[in-house]
Amino acid sequence: MPDDQLQRAQSLIRSIPDYPEPGVLFRDITPLLADAVALRAAIDAMIEPFTGTFDVVAGVEARGFLLAGAVAIAAGVGLVPIRKAGKLPRPAASVDYALEYGTATIEAHDEIHPGVNLLLVDDVLATGGTLQAAHSLVRELGGIVVGTSVLIELEALAGRALVGDVHAVFRA
Ligand code: PRP
Repeated sequence: MPDDQLQRAQSLIRSIPDYPEPGVLFRDITPLLADAVALRAAIDAMIEPFTGTFDVVAGVEARGFLLAGAVAIAAGVGLVPIRKAGKLPRPAASVDYALEYGTATIEAHDEIHPGVNLLLVDDVLATGGTLQAAHSLVRELGGIVVGTSVLIELEALAGRALVGDVHAVFRA
């Protein structure tokens, strides 16, 4: 896709100081999502290295859903939600992971079935804890993560060390 469209997408990511708490610089992707050209360019860039390699896309709640749904339609594959604890009626697998303070849990249904080739999608790679847990969840269900794609990688937080090979459209 043309570079100018990706540059437009990048320019539509807002940095909000001290949100949700003091000292955090929050990356707000809502202006990008609201722009048809920028959204299309960003989604195509998230898919591009993995074209033809995956049968299903899984997005991590909540902001990952916004991108994963678009990726699924653009790539012509199905979508599986990876949800926070307590949101699915009959989770087939569940993985706990560490947050800065305390723990969180993600869950999925068995639409992630043994042998399925899966692209994992989220909006941001920060410390990597969420995507590391998502990898474990997919493995627990027998799925194969053929790729991990994020819109933004926050390089200073070194999440790549936990998650391994990640395709990031933008680095900040
Ligand atoms: C954010 C973001 C990623 C995760 C990245 O989600 O959407 O999923 O944090 O952080 P990490 O790499 O340090 O794990 P959050 O849990 O805030 O949920 P949200 O999408 O519902 O806002």
